[in-house]
Amino acid sequence: MSLKPIGVVVSGSSPVNVPIHVYKGCENLVKEDAFVVIKDEEKNTEYFGVIRSLRMNDPLLNQNMRSSIIDNPELAKHGKEVVFETMNVRVLGVLKPDGQLEPPRQPPTPRSQVYLVETPGDVNLKLETGLVLGKHKFSGLEIPLKPDALKYHIGIVGATGTGKSRLVVALINEVLEKTDWKVLVFDHSGQDYKDYFENHVVNASSIIQDHEMIYDYLKREISVKDVAEDALYISLLLYILHEGNVEKFISDTDKKGKKPSELSQELNKLPELLENTDIEEKLKNTQWKADKLGKLVAEVLRSISQAKASTMNRLSVSISLQKDFFKSLNERKITARDILEKLNKDKKVVIDLSSVKQEERRYIVYSILRKIWEEIDTKKQPVKILVVIDEAHNYATSKPSVDMIERTAREGRKWGLGLVLASQRFIDFSTDIRNNINTFFFSKLQTPGDLENLEGILDLGGIEYDDIAILATREFYFAGYGNPLKYPVLIEVKEVWPRKNQ
Ligand SMILES: Nc1ncnc2c1ncn2[C@@H]1O[C@H](COP(=O)(O)OP(=O)(O)OP(=O)(O)O)[C@@H](O)[C@H]1O
Ligand SMILES: [Mg+2]
Repeated sequence: MSLKPIGVVVSGSSPVNVPIHVYKGCENLVKEDAFVVIKDEEKNTEYFGVIRSLRMNDPLLNQNMRSSIIDNPELAKHGKEVVFETMNVRVLGVLKPDGQLEPPRQPPTPRSQVYLVETPGDVNLKLETGLVLGKHKFSGLEIPLKPDALKYHIGIVGATGTGKSRLVVALINEVLEKTDWKVLVFDHSGQDYKDYFENHVVNASSIIQDHEMIYDYLKREISVKDVAEDALYISLLLYILHEGNVEKFISDTDKKGKKPSELSQELNKLPELLENTDIEEKLKNTQWKADKLGKLVAEVLRSISQAKASTMNRLSVSISLQKDFFKSLNERKITARDILEKLNKDKKVVIDLSSVKQEERRYIVYSILRKIWEEIDTKKQPVKILVVIDEAHNYATSKPSVDMIERTAREGRKWGLGLVLASQRFIDFSTDIRNNINTFFFSKLQTPGDLENLEGILDLGGIEYDDIAILATREFYFAGYGNPLKYPVLIEVKEVWPRKNQ
């Protein structure tokens, strides 16, 4: 292996920051974020590092001193040979003969030569094996993600089109191939994952909504208040517990001399019934009829309050107008439990959220995560599930999904429940979520504020907004716990194409 010398260590190096003068003629070879080896013959030590802060200098053209060139522009052509380039090498470690890196404890000796790492074979670096998402941009070295980092959560941040979703696909493929983890994907757009996991997609509009969700929806749509709210809630539970067979409570509503006793008895039993019933199973079998529910709500309202007939009528009619909503409920057949069973069997499930409204998407994320936590709380065993939420800013800020994402961010590591949150706007995540993500991939960002936020959690090693502004598609800085170099490095994500395009 013949390494290319590109510069020399100058005065003032520290164990981690080494100022370098670049050799004449090598200016086109050195690039920000490229890897180098510093060979210190005095200390018989090799340092491995990354180039930062390239600067071109001209000792004759001090920025703050008047130069004769401003009067005679043609003079600029003279004395060009005095221009020189400097850079800093941020040392990532001392290379040991076995290819391991050790933390640097001594500065490299000035006058040591610096060599460019152009191919993986140029350096004897043996990083731990792990999940390979791409290669270092300039050397082609693979920098594998530590599998252990999955449970400490991963953030993928970048402006639109930077390649976040493809990076996630690369990650999922590696996780499925190299670990015993399962992957559950919440696909916000419905476009990003279905081509890769074709037979594993569940449409959100076929997922059964639980009673809380139905209640919230109806409450909003028909704007009920006070005791009518309670009547609606109770009626929904009653309706579900009887799988829609509630005629006996409403059959003679219109006649004089009705028998409210059956209903009030039932209402008294409700808490006990709820305790002993598998609501999810009941929901599966419930046939929704808007008219019937409307009548039941009126009946319950009468039973628990002194409501006027006109109030009851209004409520009953408003509910019966929600025919389309109830029709859609009847078409839903999959429960959160079914999804987890499928996940255990197939190892991967993609939930296409695009077919339902925004509020419902958040509910679905919430209810499936809640189901996973229910399982953890009862079995107290690690689940080894990686939960991917794409376009996560839609979920990591608003209720109810944010609550479950926060819990997962805080406690997931103990139970092997990891998050991958991909987003254009990381700044919107709740603090609790942000502070619990330990590995990041970030590219061009939407706002400088996003970088400041990252700076609060990560050692960015001097990467500035201007550095990331120039990144191309597929280029991400890889930083944080999962990075074996423990310092942000620039990777190019491997190519990922849907099968039909290959
Ligand atoms: N790893 C990759 N391999 C091949 N093409 C890629 C890769 N990454 C990005 N691209 C190209 O860039 C486009 C955008 O990528 P992607 O959809 O992953 O971006 P994104 O950051 O998720 O964007 P958005 O924020 O809009 O969801 C892709 O359609 C593809 O053409
Ligand atoms: Mg995307």
